[in-house]
Amino acid sequence: MKFHVLTLFPEMITGALSASIIGKAMERGQIELEAVNIRDYTLDKHKKVDDYTYGGGAGMLMAAQPVYDAYQAVVCQDKPKPRTIYVTPQGATFNQEMAKEFAMEEELVILCGHYEGIDERVLEEIVTDYVSIGDYVLTGGELPAMVMVDAIARFVPGVLNNDESAMTESFHDDLLEYPQYTRPAVWMGKEVPAILLSGDHKKVEEWRLEQSVKRTRERRPDLYALYEARQALIPKKKPRRKKF
Ligand code: ADE
Repeated sequence: MKFHVLTLFPEMITGALSASIIGKAMERGQIELEAVNIRDYTLDKHKKVDDYTYGGGAGMLMAAQPVYDAYQAVVCQDKPKPRTIYVTPQGATFNQEMAKEFAMEEELVILCGHYEGIDERVLEEIVTDYVSIGDYVLTGGELPAMVMVDAIARFVPGVLNNDESAMTESFHDDLLEYPQYTRPAVWMGKEVPAILLSGDHKKVEEWRLEQSVKRTRERRPDLYALYEARQALIPKKKPRRKKF
């Protein structure tokens, strides 16, 4: 899968995402990440990319021309237009389902705004999805873009070394993940729950599901309500677990 991130700060994107699991996935060729500097495409002789807003008001706006030309430079004219995400607090809130859906695309363009935003006309021309990472305002779209690339890349086959882990983690089946433990069996006088040492896989599974349900009810009542609603639709059988 290929990500094209249109930004005024390409080094932020490549710097942060070339480490760790995403960096390894790039080395293996499972994902490609291109950070394109919008400023390289401005036709302004002073390399300006922003201007005053018509109608007055505080702050500057990114102009349509450099954004559009940067976009044109990354899209292939003989292929269908790729999905193009503008990261903005005015978008739909990003979640695990969206990450999974975007991961099915071959190519994704992510546009990062700055200043007071971007001229509406270029957004109308190129953007297919408006996405926010939460109800707060950041100084630019780079951090949201990085969050999204990371969450989406995890669903690209082969990126996680254990294919199972994206399926069992939190948010899978609308439940948070159960508590986990590693050695030693006793730490600061606290023991690992005995059931996990029993070797009884069925009992371990049941315990984990119970813990996931309890944790979700306590920490995320909103998610728990979804889980309950979904369970009510399932003909009486063992409830399924979802992991975040
Ligand atoms: N740009 C500024 N704040 C943002 C947010 N919360 N989500 C996405 N893009 C943003």
